[in-house]
Amino acid sequence: MACSDSDYAYLRELVLEQSSNQIDPSRNALFDTRLTPIARISGASNLESFVGMLKAGRPAHLHRAVAEAMTINETSFFRDVKPYDMLRAVILPRLIEQRMKERRLRIWSAASSTGQEAYSIAMLIVEHFPDIAHWDVKIIGTDISRQVLEYAQRGRYRRLEVNRGLPARMLLKYFVRDGEEWEVSDKVRSMCEFQYANLCAPLPRLAVFDLVMLRNVLLYFSQNDRTHLFGDVHRKMSPSGYLVLGNAEQAEDSTDLFEVEFAANCYFYRPVNGS
Ligand SMILES: C[S@@+](CC[C@H](N)C(=O)[O-])C[C@H]1O[C@@H](n2cnc3c(N)ncnc32)[C@H](O)[C@@H]1O
Repeated sequence: MACSDSDYAYLRELVLEQSSNQIDPSRNALFDTRLTPIARISGASNLESFVGMLKAGRPAHLHRAVAEAMTINETSFFRDVKPYDMLRAVILPRLIEQRMKERRLRIWSAASSTGQEAYSIAMLIVEHFPDIAHWDVKIIGTDISRQVLEYAQRGRYRRLEVNRGLPARMLLKYFVRDGEEWEVSDKVRSMCEFQYANLCAPLPRLAVFDLVMLRNVLLYFSQNDRTHLFGDVHRKMSPSGYLVLGNAEQAEDSTDLFEVEFAANCYFYRPVNGS
């Protein structure tokens, strides 16, 4: 299934409008592979007639489905290792000391994809900070794709997924095997919640976060959208909170609301004029 250059341009524009994701023209083939199943389900005989349906605006929910289908959901448990070492050695001990009185922590896995990031943080806390077992700790995962959110909520992973980044000891301790799948334990699951949020649209009321993980999603957004997003993230954070980006991402070129710090071989950000 392929379509004309102007149809691809229309699809790129539609995705940009719905999710702010920029898709380079060199990746047109991705539209073919990702949209063919939706086109078939919608009764279109090929991508061209599917684009015709989209242009005619019927049904409206298809526009959202196209944007969701084009998201890149690559993720893994304890992705990149270093940020998690830094959480364990630096950020969580500091936050725990700061929040000793409230006994409450709110963590945001923004762009959580299928949930591995949120569950990794939950496991890290249970494993290394048993003293806060009775605190009110919540990790809120959000994403624009309803499909990945459902997957995250199920908390069931295939062998290939648990084999990526999850130490065998943690797998045995925090998952229960059920046939071909591994299910997150109740303890870890009860710390995580998942909900829809488009990072480039007005954000829902979530919480005031002590820690925000905004990893491996900024690269899909324009400079302007990143600047707006940093402003929104800043407003949703405690002044004494922490922001962690992806290894290849930085805030400095989009905002002056955060200042960078380096510890445990990794960078993190603090709100400027925070406490
Ligand atoms: C590459 S994954 C990163 C997952 C995880 N943060 C990590 O680092 O492993 C990017 C995620 O961002 C989500 N995403 C893309 N655009 C978004 C938007 N405008 N709002 C919210 N989520 C978005 C995608 O659906 C995808 O699940």
